[in-house]
Amino acid sequence: MKIGMIIFSQTGNTLSAAKTLKIRLNNEGQDVEIQRIEQADENNRDPKKIEIKNMPQLNIYDALIFASPVQAFSLAGVFKAYLQKIDMIEGITSFCFVTKGMNTKGFGGKKAIKTMSDIISVKGGEVKSTAIICWGKKDIRNLQTAMMVEDFSKQINLLN
Ligand SMILES: Cc1cc2nc3c(=O)[nH]c(=O)nc-3n(C[C@H](O)[C@H](O)[C@H](O)COP(=O)(O)O)c2cc1C
Repeated sequence: MKIGMIIFSQTGNTLSAAKTLKIRLNNEGQDVEIQRIEQADENNRDPKKIEIKNMPQLNIYDALIFASPVQAFSLAGVFKAYLQKIDMIEGITSFCFVTKGMNTKGFGGKKAIKTMSDIISVKGGEVKSTAIICWGKKDIRNLQTAMMVEDFSKQINLLN
């Protein structure tokens, strides 16, 4: 299967988790492409006016994995703006994960996942599984990354 991993990563954490998942999926024979979303106008701080540098074609993939950091207790503005601009992804099985700093409830993980899942559903994608990875403590980060990798790869292999 051809899998698109569409990610935003400001400081590299989300990218690192995405690479761990890619290694696992590659080992299982999947063809995975990581597409990194970037903001075109880096200096703009108005979330309503965020422009995206690159809009990768999504309908070439059999499954999509969307990933972003939590910022300001919610989904990163850049990724929210990106998702709102994507074309319809009717019927494409989708997965989402977020990384966040705090290993405490109420710091935006669930809200970010809900925002992400809601927009993907509006665009016609079918969200199969989601995950939240707290990056602050290494042992928790590694455990939650391993659980995400296990779950997503299992679900993706069932699609074959
Ligand atoms: C501007 C900014 C805002 C952030 N806001 C939150 C937040 O509200 N809640 C949280 O748990 N972590 C927050 N963080 C921490 C990031 O979510 C966390 O470090 C994440 O893993 C970064 O992912 P990245 O390296 O892919 O950009 C914030 C980080 C930045 C830079």
